[in-house]
Amino acid sequence: MDLLSKSSKVLLPPLSSIACKCFALVIIVLVLRAAFISTVFGGFEQNQIAISHNFSLSYMSEYGIRKDKFVEAPQIVWGLNNQKIAFARACLTARTLNRTLLMPSLSASLFYKEVDLLQPISFDKVFRFERFNSLCNGFVRLGHYSDVFNQTGAFEVQKGSGRRWTIQRDMDQLRQSSQDPIDRYEVIHITGKNPFLWHDHWPVKDYARIFECLVLVDEIAKEADKVIDKIREVGREVKGKAQVSQHDNHLEGHQLHPVSYVAVHMRIEKDWMIHCKKLEQRLNVSQICSSKAEITERVGNILGLKTPTVVYLAVADVLLEDSSILSGWKEGLLPFEKKKLGVDGIYEKYPYLIKSAIDYEVCLRADVFVGNSYSTFSSLIVLERTQKMMRMGVGNSCGSGTDVRWPSYAYNIPGESKGPQRWMTNMADSSLQAISYGSNRISC
Ligand SMILES: *[C@@H]1O[C@H](CO)[C@@H](O)[C@H](O)[C@H]1NC(C)=O
Ligand SMILES: *[C@@H]1O[C@H](CO)[C@@H](O)[C@H](O)[C@H]1NC(C)=O
Ligand SMILES: *[C@@H]1O[C@H](CO)[C@@H](O)[C@H](O)[C@H]1NC(C)=O
Ligand SMILES: *[C@@H]1O[C@H](CO)[C@@H](O)[C@H](O)[C@H]1NC(C)=O
Repeated sequence: MDLLSKSSKVLLPPLSSIACKCFALVIIVLVLRAAFISTVFGGFEQNQIAISHNFSLSYMSEYGIRKDKFVEAPQIVWGLNNQKIAFARACLTARTLNRTLLMPSLSASLFYKEVDLLQPISFDKVFRFERFNSLCNGFVRLGHYSDVFNQTGAFEVQKGSGRRWTIQRDMDQLRQSSQDPIDRYEVIHITGKNPFLWHDHWPVKDYARIFECLVLVDEIAKEADKVIDKIREVGREVKGKAQVSQHDNHLEGHQLHPVSYVAVHMRIEKDWMIHCKKLEQRLNVSQICSSKAEITERVGNILGLKTPTVVYLAVADVLLEDSSILSGWKEGLLPFEKKKLGVDGIYEKYPYLIKSAIDYEVCLRADVFVGNSYSTFSSLIVLERTQKMMRMGVGNSCGSGTDVRWPSYAYNIPGESKGPQRWMTNMADSSLQAISYGSNRISC
């Protein structure tokens, strides 16, 4: 019991519920809109990846999560995808305790060394709160601080750390916390490390189920749509020119058809290069860092890629000053980043977290995605793409070429014909370890 101590922490003040009502309205409008789009453009595969959230009743497990017992987690920090994983882990911890998770704060900025610079941002400023609860109904549940009846008596559970804090001890602590007398407390406040660093007790599919419930708020989703529309517009122009030069005019009707694009999550900025070299040494593997030349060459060798095509480069802002990332691409691959695309103004309005969320969406919805298997950002995109393919009934899509929908590749691992390696997430994995920290075992 030395790990568990009682506290009388004062909970944060109640949050407004007007926002929830607005969300409910927005959701209704969006569901109607989605229904409309799928009727009109039902045959277009590109649209479906955006609107394929599964409304299956399998989400509604028979028994729900208790609504009168809560877990409070520390502020969630670091990169967008570290934050998503940390959030999901906090949800799964709350689920294990059969409690509602009090909506945590995310962090808008990336400064993780100085806590003052973390800029907390409420979860519901980024993701839809009500939508989350309806999609994840019966599995996990988020609550507002205003739902707590007794704001004075939280029980504090201090997460252990260090080598002696094994996964078994962590699980024992969770079990203990799910029983009386601790279970009698209305709120369990977990303190200590960032949830990303908590021990992982859950299989990949549990995380995937939570990620699927994370739907961007309308404002951010619209910005992502604008970027994707712009990519497709540029692609249409390029394709139009190619068609004219071939005197090929049977293109009618294709104006409506979304033009496909490739997205490459290109990690070659200095910080990453230093990090990945260290990682290569520590793990004794050579396939983590890829140079710009290696990436462009491997992407150029993807079998069956239909050209000309736009290649959207999701890169760190520092690389926007480096025009060399736009050169060296094989003929027919037309590289664009946000600046050349003219959408940098959209990104500029937002803090780090939102910028990253927009880029995530652009990569997620690309027809072909190429990333680095040691990047959490790339790994989560591939996980979601794999999940979506499985929902569409595509079992194993490791086949070659682009006969498969939404193929993903890892440019840091050589594949066939000097191209990048095909990449799918192993949804049967017993933990998220590989995705959180990167791996060169990528299922295909
Ligand atoms: C949570 O508790 C409720 C009420 O006691 C119960 O019906 C439900 O099965 C529990 N859910 C889980 C996931 O343990
Ligand atoms: C709230 O919790 C505190 C501490 O556990 C307890 O002393 C108090 O009686 C509770 N108040 C109500 C209204 O239940
Ligand atoms: C690193 O890997 C290489 C080849 O895989 C192996 O020969 C070598 O012994 C390894 N070094 C260490 C320190 O594990
Ligand atoms: C939704 O998910 C369920 C179970 O996960 C699956 O059986 C069903 O086919 C899915 N429906 C659609 C439309 O994807």
